[in-house]
Amino acid sequence: MPRFRDLHISTKFNLIMSVFLIVLLLATAFMTYHRQQTLILRVAVDDARSFARQIIETRDYMSSVVRGEPEKNYSLVPQVVATQVAKRITSGSKYYVRQVSLRYRNPENRPDDYETSQLQIFASKDGGETYRVIKVRGQEAFRYMLPMVAEKSCLECHGDYDSAPSFVKERFPRGHYSYGYKVGEVIGAVSVTIPMADLYRQIGINVALELLYRAVIFIIIILVLGALIRRTVINPVALVSATLSRVTRTGRFDERIPQKSNDELGQLVGAFNAMMEELEHKSLQQQESEERYRGMIEMAHSAIVTFMEDGKIIIANQEAERLFGLSRQELLGERMYGFLEDGTEMEKGVQKFLREGHGGGVGKTTFHRFRNRRGNSTSVEIALSVSRAANKTLFTAILREVSRA
Ligand code: HEC
Repeated sequence: MPRFRDLHISTKFNLIMSVFLIVLLLATAFMTYHRQQTLILRVAVDDARSFARQIIETRDYMSSVVRGEPEKNYSLVPQVVATQVAKRITSGSKYYVRQVSLRYRNPENRPDDYETSQLQIFASKDGGETYRVIKVRGQEAFRYMLPMVAEKSCLECHGDYDSAPSFVKERFPRGHYSYGYKVGEVIGAVSVTIPMADLYRQIGINVALELLYRAVIFIIIILVLGALIRRTVINPVALVSATLSRVTRTGRFDERIPQKSNDELGQLVGAFNAMMEELEHKSLQQQESEERYRGMIEMAHSAIVTFMEDGKIIIANQEAERLFGLSRQELLGERMYGFLEDGTEMEKGVQKFLREGHGGGVGKTTFHRFRNRRGNSTSVEIALSVSRAANKTLFTAILREVSRA
């Protein structure tokens, strides 16, 4: 796996932005989830409350208007009407509505464990609605309950057995616990249940939508930003870097990059062009001086060779070709020391000079026996000088034949 520092800027940018995106989306998901949860529970409470109120109002209304009608038609009993209304209101929704009582007449209205505990609380103190999320047999559910209080009209059928209508008396004999309520007493409650799975599904949908919405916006921002950075920063820098490496390869200093702006990158391009200008100028000057130097040594009457510390000849003039008895191609690369009888002495001198920075015959004129490749030997006077180029020390020897006296 490549290290982060070796990656392209755009890759780094995309990586950083992706991590940022993920963190942002996680944070959004977390916050949205919580907000949605509170919101959805609030909506659930509001809905449950309004269902419960409608049912209670229906029952109160029925109770206050019915006289003998249920005698003939049982579906006009306030409870039965309210149950039917509740069924119709909630049909097709995720709400389950019941009307329960601790002292029920219809076994269908028997409260479950949770409803029983709430009804007991309602009976012991006059409280309003209650709601919470509870877990029954592994299933979470939202439970809402609103107590129903007996009014005067209710007592007609829920008060004394003796004063109750005959159809009630028939069904529920004397001593049945559904009689004997007093005004103000809690007679039962409307109980609304919503399985949390339904609410969670809604929360999940809302969170997913919100995430999608944010992700799309963020990805658009990343793409636009990325394109902008590529255009304004990465491409110019890449151009400068590519041009630089091409110049290093070809040595052509006449390359220029068009400067399109005056910002920091424009200044970089400008500085690059100025540097190239300077280099071009310098290299031209150097070429000229080299040519002058070559012309000069070519014209010299003495043999001139420049060699490195190991004696390897790298520059030689025409006179040198003649003296050494070799063409220039043959001469370059030969060891200078090999041509002198006391070549090892000169080599030692050069080593000494390199060690100590002086001496070793450098800067002096010395006499040597010279033998060229054809075996001809002659006496030469050698003036040895030193020069430095590109952190290499170069030695130049001017050789003059000494006529045998
Ligand atoms: C006309 C008679 C009548 C009146 C008035 C009446 N009820 Fe009832 N009530 C009944 C009957 C009958 C039932 C049983 C219904 C069934 O079979 O589902 C019942 C059932 C109930 C239940 C369901 C629990 C159970 O016993 O099954 C509640 C709660 C209740 N009534 C409350 C009230 C309240 C509160 C009022 C006054 C606003 C009221 N009732 C007025 C006759 C009456």
